[in-house]
Amino acid sequence: KKVAILISGRGSNMGALIRAAAEGDYPAEIAGVISDRADAPGLAAAGAAGIPARAVARDEHADKAAHEAAIEAALQELGAELVCLAGFMRLLSAGFVSRWRGRMINIHPSLLPLFKGLSPHAQALQAGVRVHGCTVHFVTEETDGGPIVAQAAVPVLADDTEERLAERVLKAEHKLYPLALALVASGAARMEDGKTVFPTPG
Ligand code: GRF
Repeated sequence: KKVAILISGRGSNMGALIRAAAEGDYPAEIAGVISDRADAPGLAAAGAAGIPARAVARDEHADKAAHEAAIEAALQELGAELVCLAGFMRLLSAGFVSRWRGRMINIHPSLLPLFKGLSPHAQALQAGVRVHGCTVHFVTEETDGGPIVAQAAVPVLADDTEERLAERVLKAEHKLYPLALALVASGAARMEDGKTVFPTPG
């Protein structure tokens, strides 16, 4: 399956996906990287890995609709069959999301449905949870609300700061995302009637 990765910044999850897809028997190939910001460090990292990478910057387009049309055009050019949002910090319209329904996944650094939205680590510390983690889910119109594909848990330690907790979760993200993409790219996990199903082969 041809995969396009959308980023806005560092792209560390993008890097994990690129490394995983470089393995021979991985069920997906990274066709390209698109950033909504021209200054995203992830663009250089993708280029260094030999992956076509380009910015489709928001400020180069009159409005959200034009910007999304440009992203869609770039996805078509890449022949993308699946989209991975990886540190992509822009809300996509319902139209875009419905066109990619079942073919677009995102990683969120919390055990959804807990701690949706921004600053999930601060939310976790504030709530006093002792287990935290990350979630890969299909993207739907509800932000951070789509059907879950896979999750990974990490402990919250007594003296954790937001930074230390975020770092621990990020390491788990880099293992989880490649696994979750492989499930979706191989058809082992699919979105059906708004739920994730794991059709057993045969
Ligand atoms: C990560 O915590 C990811 O979960 C969130 O954005 C953060 C930055 O990710 N979506 P990356 O380093 O740009 O992949």
